[in-house]
Amino acid sequence: MREPVLLVTGANGEIGHGLIERIGRDRREKIVALDLTPLDPRLAEFCHESLVGSILDEALLDRLVSRYEFRTIFHLAALLSTRAEFSPRAAHDVNVSGTLNLLQMAADQTEWSGRRVKFLFPSSIAVYGLPDLEEKARADRVREKSWNLPTTMYGCNKIYCEQLGRYYCSYYKQLGAADGVRGVDFRALRFPGLISAVTVPSGGTSDFIPEMLHAVASGQEYACFVREDTRIPFMAMPDAIKALLMLEAASEDSLSWRSYNVTSFNPSAAEFRDELAKRWNDVRVTFEPHLKRQSIVDSWPADVNDDAAREDWAWAPDYDLPRALDDYLVPGMRGRIEAGEGA
Ligand code: SER
Repeated sequence: MREPVLLVTGANGEIGHGLIERIGRDRREKIVALDLTPLDPRLAEFCHESLVGSILDEALLDRLVSRYEFRTIFHLAALLSTRAEFSPRAAHDVNVSGTLNLLQMAADQTEWSGRRVKFLFPSSIAVYGLPDLEEKARADRVREKSWNLPTTMYGCNKIYCEQLGRYYCSYYKQLGAADGVRGVDFRALRFPGLISAVTVPSGGTSDFIPEMLHAVASGQEYACFVREDTRIPFMAMPDAIKALLMLEAASEDSLSWRSYNVTSFNPSAAEFRDELAKRWNDVRVTFEPHLKRQSIVDSWPADVNDDAAREDWAWAPDYDLPRALDDYLVPGMRGRIEAGEGA
């Protein structure tokens, strides 16, 4: 008998931290964590097993399958958008081939267990590509099916993996014999930039907002790498975790689509700085745009329309920007600084 468990890849990443802690506290399922680096000791108490390894290591995945029955997979491992531009081929390997490995593992498991594995996938606003600022202003709250013209390797990877997920969900082995349960119950969220009180992101292009926050909270200067008027959507990490868990729990019949926009607030970089200045005295932020990173952020929408998630599975964020700062980010960061953990 294989043991039923929940798998989290990219367990040490920003979403992995919030998700493992939340599931570990609230639910009884056993969590198996996989990451390239040893699991943060703070997460170990919530995990049944943590493995150091790559999603490209098929022998490792085979060993996992021989021991466990994955009921749900949260496939979070990825190279983010800025890092991916420095090594596009490596990004494709991790973001696409790694995802394909896991989808195939899940589909194989569905075939022998007779139960469709749930596969939760964080996609991104990076799947959108607006050609210029005029079009970005006109596009307003972008819907899921428009502007799917990414300009980054990461965005290309994400939109293709959404399509792979759709294939594994609805068309996998479509010419095979009709009987038997098959495929994967794939569900994706197109996340905006995420802001955590616990971790600082690395390698993303939406990092200017969380970097600004962590710098200000620890009394450091910050040179923001985009213009003051730059605007893209964001979300506080607890809402990202909430969205993942709501989408996981939604009944399959309620899903009219498999890749949903979700969002919470979308301050410009200067408006975010101004919100920080209401809460900290010593805010030293300058704007020194990095032209290439700026052009990536400019190609992402200023806002997204998340009506489909709201209608299909009752999505609504708990945190607008003031509440995210006052009830989550500011206390979380002050607590970390007082505990000597830095921001
Ligand atoms: N936040 C991610 C990045 O900037 C996009 O999903 O790479």
